[in-house]
Amino acid sequence: MNEISTITNILQGHIPTNSEITVCGWVKTRRDSRKLSFLNIYDGSCLHTLQVIVENKKIHNYKKDILHLTSGCSVKIIGKIVQSIGKKQNIELQAKHVEILGLIENPDTYPISPKKHNMEYLREIAHLRPRTNIIGAISRTRNVLAHAIHNFMNKNGFLWIPTPIITTTDTEGTSKMFQVSTLNFKNLPYTPSGNINYAKDFFGKESFLTVSGQLNVESYACALSKTYTFGPTFRAEPSNTNKHLAEFWMIEPEVAFADLDNIICIAKSLLQHICKTILKKCSDDIDFFSKKHNLAIINRLENIVEKNFIEITYTQAINILKQSKKQFKNKIFWGANLLSEHEKYLTEEYFNQPTIIKHYPKKIKAFYMRLNDDMKTSAAMDILLPGIGEIIGGSQREERLNVLDKNLEEFGLNKNNYQWYRDLRRYGTVPHSGFGLGFERLMLFITGIKNIRDIVPFPRTLKNINY
Ligand code: 4AD
Ligand code: MG
Repeated sequence: MNEISTITNILQGHIPTNSEITVCGWVKTRRDSRKLSFLNIYDGSCLHTLQVIVENKKIHNYKKDILHLTSGCSVKIIGKIVQSIGKKQNIELQAKHVEILGLIENPDTYPISPKKHNMEYLREIAHLRPRTNIIGAISRTRNVLAHAIHNFMNKNGFLWIPTPIITTTDTEGTSKMFQVSTLNFKNLPYTPSGNINYAKDFFGKESFLTVSGQLNVESYACALSKTYTFGPTFRAEPSNTNKHLAEFWMIEPEVAFADLDNIICIAKSLLQHICKTILKKCSDDIDFFSKKHNLAIINRLENIVEKNFIEITYTQAINILKQSKKQFKNKIFWGANLLSEHEKYLTEEYFNQPTIIKHYPKKIKAFYMRLNDDMKTSAAMDILLPGIGEIIGGSQREERLNVLDKNLEEFGLNKNNYQWYRDLRRYGTVPHSGFGLGFERLMLFITGIKNIRDIVPFPRTLKNINY
């Protein structure tokens, strides 16, 4: 195959005029005049289309093929790059050969006609929706975002550690794990005492999809100092909301010799780096999201880069909520979980700023979080963003074996299942801290898209596993 030029390269002027090039892509629109046709071609490399001029007299298959091209047909075009005389574009392609690679079977019923479709409709055709401008823009932004995260971690000396997807440990202790098994559900093996005999299962033990790579990456942080894991995590949460997925990705930095304030600093720098990179590298796509979906996004991205985050304790947050005149559906008292209506009030009404909440009551947080000297709160933090709510959850980890053991007991967890994790505290324990940043929630913040089902190619949510 000839070398193929991408439309982004062509439109950015990287290819000298009058050069002959090959372009492959799909037709967005076709418009005919008496002697020629204008094709707008997209290839996914950028938001824009390339205008191709196809002259009746120069193209031997003009009548046979070109006049049958409809939106979605795939083509290979060889032609010459020229300055355009049209007002809408600087550069266009004058076709010399047009080869039809694939026609649209029945253009009248093609699900992705060039008109605007709503997001709910597109969700039903998840295999075809990458052909739309919006899903193209989301996909390019997601790609830049993933690279921006790895680049930040790499530049700051973090080692990327892959952590297992199949596990026996419920890191968050919330029993929201998907079970993994090769047992025959129609004929389960039982022990003499009547329990399912997991010794007969693939791993010889009850196994699950991981809810977080944290515990595993802690063991690497306790040897290599600065580490992170970035991979898929799974939660069987029955929450059918715009912000919950059953399968999502998390970035989990874990740092030895770091306390809660140290990782808050890392989290802020990471978010700032991300927003700066996105504004710089995805300007066309961000403009598109802003104009078509949510005018607020550019402002809020700049806000992250330029302004300080609000930092308060959980106790201060509770006092603010108690003093507000707003009627919350869920009663607020010290010890209560902050729910989305409370987070919304704090970030969108009271502060209108990204807000970090620290030192939660130990009872509403996980067993691994470090107990504060007040014996009531743990060194935990959540970062809340306006329009999204919680985007980051993290903590200093309990590095004292006796306190960790007490936590395990209080949370009703079996010490024997955490022997390897306890070893980290028995052999050269160190203070260490980390957090988890939800990749898709971050995408919601960046793009202004309302529903998390539109941010991932093939979302997995309650009662939904199509494609
Ligand atoms: O607050 P979470 O549950 O924290 C942990 O899992 C820790 N083990 C992380 C750590 O300290 N290494 O989850 C972290 C983030 C949340 O703030 C949220 O952004 C995202 O993961 N998240 C979800 N995103 C989409 N769908 C869900 N069901 C999510 N649950 C959590
Ligand atoms: Mg959390």
